[in-house]
Amino acid sequence: MQEIIEKLHQDALAQLAEAATLEAVEAVRVDALGRKGKLAEISKQFGRLAPEERARLGKLLNTAKQELESNIDSRIAALESAALDKRLESEWIDLTTPAPGIRPGSLHPVTQVQKELEELFRSMGFAVLDGPEVESEYYNFDALNIPGDHPARDMQDTFWLKDGRLLRTHTSPVQVRGLETLKPPLKMIAPGRVFRNEEVDASHEHTFYQLEGMMVDRDVSVAHLIYFMKTFLSAIFKRDVTVRLRPGFFPFVEPGFELDIQCLICGGKGCPVCKQSGWVELCPCGLVHPAVLRYGGADPEEWSGFAFGLGLTRLAMMRYGIDDIRLFTGGDLRFLKQF
Ligand code: PHE
Repeated sequence: MQEIIEKLHQDALAQLAEAATLEAVEAVRVDALGRKGKLAEISKQFGRLAPEERARLGKLLNTAKQELESNIDSRIAALESAALDKRLESEWIDLTTPAPGIRPGSLHPVTQVQKELEELFRSMGFAVLDGPEVESEYYNFDALNIPGDHPARDMQDTFWLKDGRLLRTHTSPVQVRGLETLKPPLKMIAPGRVFRNEEVDASHEHTFYQLEGMMVDRDVSVAHLIYFMKTFLSAIFKRDVTVRLRPGFFPFVEPGFELDIQCLICGGKGCPVCKQSGWVELCPCGLVHPAVLRYGGADPEEWSGFAFGLGLTRLAMMRYGIDDIRLFTGGDLRFLKQF
């Protein structure tokens, strides 16, 4: 019987050495050590042995079982660590590999100009206001002294919505909104997107950006307006630009002016941007019309002010030497990436 036990033990050890998976190891264990396994079967025959013989063989059997168990444990550990090695190898990452290039976005040229101007005007104590792009007829026209039958409504071709509202044709509605919310004395700008139902060409777009500015205080005069325009335009262009003032008509200012600067693209010689005139209309402006002050809830006997409308898109064209306004909303990354 001793030989049988030793043989079973050796066989089990040999099978174990060949077991390549955890399942195979488990099969060996069940076959040898399980409740109905081979070693358990052997011990059933111990009954017919003499007591000393039984004790001796029992000890032998127990030693064999223990050795087998510990071999099984170390076999399982070896298989598990091999599996882990394999996983580590397959999931290996080379941390020294250079990262793929980062491609950061860039700010749109109009956004850059807008941010710069906001900064400049904030430093002069102006509040930066926002207004809705879908605007009411009241704010876009009526409250700016442009009643329904006024021919000035045709100056700006309007996109009307079915519900009677419209896409604002300028940022001037924010003048009235600003008067309502801030109350004079006030200094405000309102940059934003505006829309006109226009034929598109190199210098006209249906969508572009303006920056409205307004200052309302006691005794504001044309002298303040001229001084102020000179100051901020030289700050914007960081150089001497040649400007000229012409009388201009806008129902919401009185008197009204048209401020032109000499074309920075052609230096005044004439090009498509300045329509061969050498001058670019940059900035309509004027003193706020008493009717507008009244619409905004300010008494024109007490308050006066100036307002201007800066073409942000046009300004960006001047700044970067861009000769076609259609590039701004064209979405061509080759264009946008340059800024
Ligand atoms: N809102 C006018 C326009 O878009 C410009 C303007 C603003 C004129 C302020 C005078 C004062 O044409």
